[in-house]
Amino acid sequence: MSARSAEVVAETLHTARLDLVPYDLDFCRAIVAGDRAVAAEWMGADLGAWPGGGELESGFPANLRALREDSSALGWHGRALIVRMHGAVAGSVNLKGRPRDGRVEVGWELDRHYRYQGYAREGARAVVAYAFSHREVQEVVAEIDPTNAPSIAVAESVGMHRTSEASTQHPGAILWAITRPEFEAGR
Ligand SMILES: CC(C)(COP(=O)(O)OP(=O)(O)OC[C@H]1O[C@@H](n2cnc3c(N)ncnc32)[C@H](O)[C@@H]1OP(=O)(O)O)[C@@H](O)C(=O)NCCC(=O)NCCS
Repeated sequence: MSARSAEVVAETLHTARLDLVPYDLDFCRAIVAGDRAVAAEWMGADLGAWPGGGELESGFPANLRALREDSSALGWHGRALIVRMHGAVAGSVNLKGRPRDGRVEVGWELDRHYRYQGYAREGARAVVAYAFSHREVQEVVAEIDPTNAPSIAVAESVGMHRTSEASTQHPGAILWAITRPEFEAGR
């Protein structure tokens, strides 16, 4: 497998403790095919038990389909969250495709061994800032079950607030959102 492309390197986000590496087609193919050694080599990090069930069964096939259609959109899909000091993938912070009508969706998932250490908040903040660095983005939303306290805490820590909009994809989930003016006021 080839090393990470220049585009992947350019779209990788860096925070105090994390590298957020966007998946490309090669990486998604390796994960979907179960070629974990190849995937780990591409990522240059220990994958541990990542990715877990939901991401493996639906997230990665969806990323693969989307990148097959438009491989130049890799910054708008999944990103692995590497904890630099461990050289390991702790989870992911994912955008769900290019902006539509000014809106993008974000989601997050951490391996349980890495929770409660502020990694989701740190990664989410970087990805939300990435989205708003594109002028066409007016709003970032997250679909959250209202009983999911940790996920609500992550959303609110990046300035999102609960809306009255229900998810059309996940029964029971509600949208949390931050608009561009709110993001710019909070910087
Ligand atoms: C949601 C999730 C990503 C949070 O990851 P995390 O790295 O543990 O979160 P952080 O350590 O960055 O904490 C962020 C905030 O959540 C709070 N938090 C973390 N775990 C919590 C818990 N179990 N209950 C309440 N609050 C919690 C933290 O105190 C922090 O709040 P603060 O910013 O006000 O201090 C993780 O719990 C997870 O993967 N859950 C399963 C998948 C999931 O539900 N994804 C979201 C789908 S919408």
